[in-house]
Formats: sequence, C-alpha cells, structure tokens
Amino acid sequence: MSQGGGKLPGRSSRMSGFYRLPLAERRAQLSAAMGAPGSDLGCLDDGGLDLDAANDLIENVIGTYSLPLGLGLNFVVNGRDYLVPMCVEEPSVVAAASNAARMVRSGGGFKADADPPIMIAQVELRDVPDLGRAEAAIAAATPRLLAEADLVIGKLVERGGGARAIVPRRLGPHELCIHLEIDCRDAMGANLVNGVAEALAPRLGELSQGRVGLRILSNLADRRRVRVRCRVPAAELAAGGLPGPEVVAAIAAASRFAELDPYRAATHNKGIMNGVDAVALAIGNDWRGIEAGAHAYAALSGRYRPLATWSAASGGAALEGQLEMPMAVGTVGGALRVHRGARLSLAILAADSAQEVAGVIGAVGLASNLAALRALATEGIQRGHMELHARSVARGVGAEGDLVARVAAELAHAGDFKPERAQAILDRLRMLNSTVSNPEVLK
Ligand code: MEV
Repeated sequence: MSQGGGKLPGRSSRMSGFYRLPLAERRAQLSAAMGAPGSDLGCLDDGGLDLDAANDLIENVIGTYSLPLGLGLNFVVNGRDYLVPMCVEEPSVVAAASNAARMVRSGGGFKADADPPIMIAQVELRDVPDLGRAEAAIAAATPRLLAEADLVIGKLVERGGGARAIVPRRLGPHELCIHLEIDCRDAMGANLVNGVAEALAPRLGELSQGRVGLRILSNLADRRRVRVRCRVPAAELAAGGLPGPEVVAAIAAASRFAELDPYRAATHNKGIMNGVDAVALAIGNDWRGIEAGAHAYAALSGRYRPLATWSAASGGAALEGQLEMPMAVGTVGGALRVHRGARLSLAILAADSAQEVAGVIGAVGLASNLAALRALATEGIQRGHMELHARSVARGVGAEGDLVARVAAELAHAGDFKPERAQAILDRLRMLNSTVSNPEVLK
C-alpha cells in the first residue's frame, strides 16, 4: 500500500454544514471520518513543515511560508467517496469545487480513467550523420537498452515498474530525440527517469554516431494522461433565476467559446488548474510540472485548446463534461519524505495508488471548471468571490475571531471591499464591543 494508505470503507465525503463549523470542530469531524491512524491533525498547526525539515528540503532556508489547507467535499469518483485536501490562497476555489462535486454526485459522480504511470525521459542526439541508420541501430539494441535501464532503477522494478519502450523522434535533418518510456508506479518519477536518461545517453550517442545533448524528463507527460467524465442533471444546475436547461445551454456555449478562442481557453484552463494545483500542492507534488504538462498538452494540436469541454445531453435535461490532460503525480518520494502536512493530506485523500490520485485530481479539475462556467454563465463570479474576499480584507485590517465574519458581512452588504471601509467598520465594531463589555463608558 502507498503512503496514502489508511483508507477506511464507508468514509463519506458528504459533510453538510462543514463550512459553518468552527475550525476545531471541522478537525474533529475529519479525524472521526479518518479513524485512529490518520486522526492527528495537529501537525497542521505549523503548516505541516517544521524548520529543520524545511532546511533539509531546499537551500538558503530562512523560514517556512504557509497557505490555507481546506477540504474539498462531496467527491465521488468511480463510485468511491473522497475527502480532498486542497491547498490554495484564492477564495472560492474549495467552496466552488465542493459545490460542483455535490451536483455531479447527484448524477452518479465522476468516472475517471488514468493511464499507467509512464513518464518520458528525453535524450537529445545532435549531429547524427544518418537518421535511418541510427534508428535501426537503436531498434536493434532496444532489448539490451531496456535491460540496462532496469538495472539503474532496480528498486522501481521490484515494485512492478521499469523501462517499457524506447521511441526515436526526428527533430531535424541530423537531430534525433530518444524517448525512454518508464513506468514509475507510485512515484512522480522525475529523479528516476533523469537517472535512466543520463545512464543510457552515452550508449545512445554511440549507436547513433551523434553527439549527446540534453538528458531530462519531459513534463509533457502525454503517456500518463487522465480522463474524467461526468453527467449532471439539469435541475441541479439552476442558478441566478435561470432554470436548469437554460444553464445547461449557457455552460455548453461557454465551453464552445473556449474551443473557439485561445484567449478564453487560457482562462478556462486556469479555472481547471485552480483545483488541480490545489490538490497537487496539498499532497506535496510538483504542481509546476503538472502546469507545464497541462498547457503543453492543451497546445499539442498546434492550437491552444480547453482541457475540458461541456455539452448538453438528453435534449438539455443533463450536462455532460469531459476532461483529458497529463497527470504526473506520485504518492511516494519527493517532498512527501519530509513534509508531514503533505503526508497527512495523502492520508486524508486515502487513495491506494498514484493512478487513483490522478483520477481524483482530474475530477477536482473538472469540478472547478464546472463551478466557474456555471457562475460565469449565470450571475457572474464577482458576488460569491467578493463575499469570500471580504474575509481576507477584514483580516488584513486586523479583524480577529468573530469580528472577521461581522466585518466581512458588512463589506459584502455595502458592496465595498476597500480596506479603508473595512477599517472603519472594524473600529466601530470594536468600539461597540468595548462599550458592551464596559457599560461604565456609557455613563
Ligand atoms: C478564477 O480563478 C478562475 C476563472 O477565471 C475561471 C474561468 O474563467 O473559467 C473564474
């Protein structure tokens, strides 16, 4: 079992009213859902990373830097409930994904299917005198090269992974790029495949009679894709005074806009990455690599395209969505070795393999996209967004405890989110509080 073990049967991701609970009660509810092995959430008090561990993780450490960790709710993927840790600084992302997941849940949940965890390492060969001859020599040597690669990654081979294929690609009249395809099992695999590329490069140079150039993984992990589908009954989507079938049509139109226009597709995909990155970051994965892969994949046809699309089904009685993108994630190694918060997040997610995690992350991306398109296609995103933003503004001017919600509510009511306004409200509420706690001042 992976580090994400500790899965309990019957863990539900439906936690109605969770957002209204005080933080301590949310933790208690999560602990109860996780059961004994994973129930210690105390490590989150310091962001899950103490200074010593941080010092071992990167260079020139001067401290740690925290972001909020929230819980994505209502997710059902391939018939299983998941509580989804999401680390993100942007208001609305967790609430929006959870809300969309609730709608999808009523249509049977997400169906996800992830490729085997094959990563690509590239060996660049320059000044190759005869591409055909080089390709033939490499093809003839492939069984031996695969065996040599497996020797470099013996531990991975023991876990069922290993080198799977060697694929030459022509880049120019004398330029070849050799793709080494390696099954990384539950690792993201960057170090593993980079090691193989460096080990095999001299031999590939000899076989091609060329000069070895770069030896490094490709973040365009298109052999490691995830596909996610969902179907949402129209009635679930009604919003902003619009009936469900009209919202279905509006979301399908918004999806079409992204298909027609790369400027829109970039923002559409950003909404997907809101969810994807938040989970990747929570579980200590390389979200920059996932970002790079996502956008390169979106542009692979020569035109930048949306990673997820939506269409009306059953004559507008339902909305269907699908997402496809590379998803190079691991449940072992990397930051997980030292980051207790990331390990805890993985335990919360309780997936048994990197492939399973990829499916859940894809579902969170699709949910985030659905929430954004539904809001944009109906009342716009500003109202909900600003209501949450108001809490940050309130905190920014020094509100604490229940004053945060009270200042935020007044800001939202006034539709004015400027810090000066927040400061004035806070000063007034504090004055009122001190008056109530010290009636003497009224005399
Ligand atoms: C904001 O973080 C994300 C959105 O812009 C995504 C979208 O426009 O689809 C709302």
